[in-house]
Amino acid sequence: MKKIVILISGRGSNMQAIVEAGIPGAEIAAVISNRPDAAGLIWANERGIPTLALDHKAYASRDEFDAVLADKIEGMQPDLLVLAGYMRILTPVFVNRFAGRMLNIHPSLLPAYPGLHTHQRAIEDGLKIAGCTVHFVTAELDHGPVVAQAAVPVLDEDSADTLAARVLKQEHQLYPAAVRAFISGDFALVAGRVRYARPLDESAALRVPG
Ligand code: GAR
Repeated sequence: MKKIVILISGRGSNMQAIVEAGIPGAEIAAVISNRPDAAGLIWANERGIPTLALDHKAYASRDEFDAVLADKIEGMQPDLLVLAGYMRILTPVFVNRFAGRMLNIHPSLLPAYPGLHTHQRAIEDGLKIAGCTVHFVTAELDHGPVVAQAAVPVLDEDSADTLAARVLKQEHQLYPAAVRAFISGDFALVAGRVRYARPLDESAALRVPG
């Protein structure tokens, strides 16, 4: 059984999607939040998943917090660390400890729009297609080898909220699928890029307007 540890900061809907996917060969060893009031912690607790709240505000520095967090996670011996709406910048020391076994989901088609307010920025730029990305975590914020991406149309009447909701629906499909693929060894990191062991569908396309 491969062990997955999930880090959240809030609602945890991506964490829920991964738990509910019931990925074969994997168990959720723990859900950890840097915010003790994260709604996702209650959800996980109610389902008997071990939870841990580690309040970053109780630590003097980012280095100190990340060192304690990394030790806690390492003690759980995870095969995969999943960042699911974990809204803290990670120190390079932390990232290096989990290099090659830490995934993140970001609500844009990276490398476009790293950081915050992705949907508002995509709308203001007049994009017709937006989306989300699952990627390996590197020390650079919202960068790293892309594992999977999903795209959605941007509609003329969209607000940041309506676009976020459309993208989030895709996140809930994409992230469990990417975690499942990691657990089954469907892809590998080769020279800093993700390569799949199976051929991918070359006919897939999203045209806007269609
Ligand atoms: C998701 O949309 C995720 O892509 C985003 O935060 C949201 C968390 O929602 N993550 C980032 O912006 C990371 N840079 P959730 O807590 O319901 O999964």
